[in-house]
This record gives sequence, structure tokens and C-alpha cells, in this order.
Amino acid sequence: MTTDTTGSGLSVRRCDTLVVFGATGDLAHKKIFPALYAMVARGDLAEPVIGVALDDWSVDQLAARARDGIMAALGTVDETVFARLTGLLRYVSGDYRDAATFAKLKAALGTCNRPLFYLAIPPSMFAPVVEGLQQAALTTGARLMVEKPFGHDLASASALNAELHKAFPDDAIFRIDHYLGKEAIQNLLYFRFANSFLEPLWNRNYVESVQITMAENFGVQGRGKFYDEVGCIRDVIQNHLLNILLLLAMEPPASDSADDLVDEKVQVLKSIRPLAPADVLRGQFDGYLAEPGVRPDSPVETFAVVRCFVDTWRWQGVPFHIRAGKQLPVTATEVVVRFRPPPIAVFGAADQAAAGGTGNYVRFRINPEVLIGIGALRKRPGEAMTGEAIELDAIDADTRDEMTPYERLIGDALDGQRELFTREDASELAWRVVGHVLDVTTRPLPYKPGDWGPAAAEQDLAPPRGWINPAA
Ligand code: BG6
Repeated sequence: MTTDTTGSGLSVRRCDTLVVFGATGDLAHKKIFPALYAMVARGDLAEPVIGVALDDWSVDQLAARARDGIMAALGTVDETVFARLTGLLRYVSGDYRDAATFAKLKAALGTCNRPLFYLAIPPSMFAPVVEGLQQAALTTGARLMVEKPFGHDLASASALNAELHKAFPDDAIFRIDHYLGKEAIQNLLYFRFANSFLEPLWNRNYVESVQITMAENFGVQGRGKFYDEVGCIRDVIQNHLLNILLLLAMEPPASDSADDLVDEKVQVLKSIRPLAPADVLRGQFDGYLAEPGVRPDSPVETFAVVRCFVDTWRWQGVPFHIRAGKQLPVTATEVVVRFRPPPIAVFGAADQAAAGGTGNYVRFRINPEVLIGIGALRKRPGEAMTGEAIELDAIDADTRDEMTPYERLIGDALDGQRELFTREDASELAWRVVGHVLDVTTRPLPYKPGDWGPAAAEQDLAPPRGWINPAA
């Protein structure tokens, strides 16, 4: 990726410290420390790492917690690498609303003057932390990385942007959507724009529909309280899955610089028709209401199908069906771009139905492994001119050197590379798309754990010729 030199010019210099707010929390345990450990192992991190949190811990306690998270994520800890990581580690304990915390942080920073502040904390604490940093005169030359969810709706996202901008210019703000850090998402962008053979087909003349499925075969995993304030549309559709749609629908960018890439995504975001209630089907798995932290009569959806239309010359009239849910049969994220059937049934109508039904598509598997598949019909061996569906797959099964999204994103933010982060305008436009279908208070349709959502999802709002379900 090229180095971005726009805006404040901060982006060209690597940060000299990483400060993790929320260092004793769940995200740090599960994702951030394993990522930092992997970065140290690769030789990609040698800067001091300062953890900040309310807990009255010693740095040794933080290190023990980090070890536990690394062990849980990777199943092993190399003592040499771990010693290098703990050698970088400092800890500051204190209340995020107390000026004394930021005075201690300032002391811990010492001569470091280009920190990356990573807010791995609830969004309600973003503003107090940013204010504390500003009052302690720690924001000049610094970058800020913030976790999702970025706001709860358009109004709160705009308000949050305004808060952050009091202390940081937009090109110093790194809004995370960890999906953008996935290898397969990078591959989607690469595959689309490094090849030319798709381009003549990649439009309303040849594409019949696009389906994007994010299935998870587990429930809310102890996050009931968080999930019940959010629901499926806010949790994964407004961010991860809309971002996939943007990569599929965007025009080629002028270059791979952050702003050129985001400019093209923003054009698509502006062209997506805001969803209306008729474009949404919501479901809730049986048993959700008994989850700890969930309201007993909660109307929150754990499954949703949304149908989007992108009103551009390229995509007008092509439905983009997005489906996501918890407690589905498998854990997998896939895109299927389905082409229109041939105009004439040379080999008979039944054969053509099969062609339309199962062949004639491109499939991108994003999770758990990276796969690009071309679905086609070929002649079944034998006398008759009848077809059978096959798929030509390029599978990237070797994940040994693969970076996790958090490694990639923390490294990019330290380096000031903004390609994989959400710019201010995009952060707000995505809320505009879903704004009319949030906070629905009617009951979602029930479904049984292990089903592909409510039965109605197989008909209502299903793509033409139906869903192609990801395999396990
Ligand atoms: C998170 C959502 O953003 O993404 C979770 O809050 C979801 O509900 C998770 O399970 C999925 O991410 P990944 O990378 O584990 O597929």
C-alpha cells in the first residue's frame, strides 16, 4: 500500500508508543494481546505499550492476563517472544474521568510524543477519554483508534465525530471495522481490480443478484446485555456486511491511496437506497430471551435479511441480499454473485433451470477460510446432453503466515495507513442506509437454533432462485 500524505501530514510517521485504554478488558484479552504478541514475534512491534484501565493492577498482573489471552488464542506461548512483549509493557491505572489518570499517563509517556491512543472501551467513555487527553495536552501529534460500534444511529455517530474532532483531525482518527482487516476482504478488493475478465460482466446487464451471508453457529456468548442494545442489523450489517457490499459494488479507485479508495466507497454509500421496512425480515432464535442480560420481552433481532439497491448506472435494479444471524447451522461468511441465465435454453428448459439454480456464479468465501469459486455447469458424462453443476475453487488453506485483523489494523494505525479504516463521511452514511429500520418494536419471527433463520426467509426477501447456503 502507498503511504498517505494527505491532511495533517501525521500519517507519514510511525507512532512511537501504543496506549491501550481498556487494557484489562475482554477485547484486550481475546484479540489485542494476541495481536501484539504476534506483531512482536514478526518483528513488527518494538515500541512501548502502555495499558490503561480502572483496575488497580500491577504491570505483572497485566502481563499475566496477557499471557492467558495469548494462550487461549494461540494455544502456545513462546517465552522469548513473550519476554520481549512484557519488556515493552507499562500500566497506568485510573478513572477515565479523573485528570490524575492522564497526568500519570503523561509521566509514563516520558519523551514519547507520537502516541497511538487505542480506545478499546465502551463508546460512552470515548468522549471523557478524549477530553482527558486534550486537557493533559497529549493530543498534538497523536493518533486515535476507536472500536466499533461507532455510534448507535446517524445522530449519535455525528455527535461522536464532533466530539472526537475537538481534539483530533479526521486523518488522525482510525475507526475500526475489524472485517476490513481480514485477509479475504483484502483479497476481494485485489481480485476485483487486479483482473480484467470480471469487468465486462460486473454490472446490471449480467449480474442477476448478489447475496452476502454471515452465519454464526453460536448465540450471544455471554454478551447478552451488549447484544440486546444492538441487534443483528447494528452489530454486523451496518458495518461488516455493508463494507463487503461496497467492495463488490465500487468503481475502480484512481489509486490505492486511502482517500481514493474511500471516495469510491462513499459514492456507493450515497447511492444505496435507504432501507424501507419492506426490505427487511427479522428473526429471533428460540431461547434468546432466556440469555443473561437480555430483556424478557426483547424485540431485538438475532437474524436479519435486508435487500439493498444501489442506484448507480452499473447496479440499478440488481438486488443485494444481505443475510446474517446467530445460531445458524454453520459459521461462515460468503458472497455469491449470480449471473443471469443464458437467454435461450439450448439444452432444454430443465437444464437451463439447473444452470440458473446452481451454476453461473462467483463465490467468495470470507470466513473461515479464503476461497474464490466459479460455479458453472458442464456436461454430465454420457449419452445425454444434460448438465451438472461444478465449482472451480481457489482455496487458500494455508493460514500459517496470515495476519489476524487486529495485527494488521494496529500495525496500519501505528504506521498511519488509513486504507482499512472508516472515514468520517462513510461512518455517517452507513447509518443513513439502515436508519429507518432500526429499533423496530414488533416481535421478530421465531426460528429454531440450527435453522437458516425463520422459514419465511426462504421466500420473502430471498434472492431470485434462492439462497446458496455456505457449507460448514
Ligand atoms: C463482531 C460482532 O463485530 O463480529 C460479533 O460484534 C460477531 O457479534 C463478530 O460474532 C464476528 O467477527 P469474526 O471476525 O469473529 O467473524
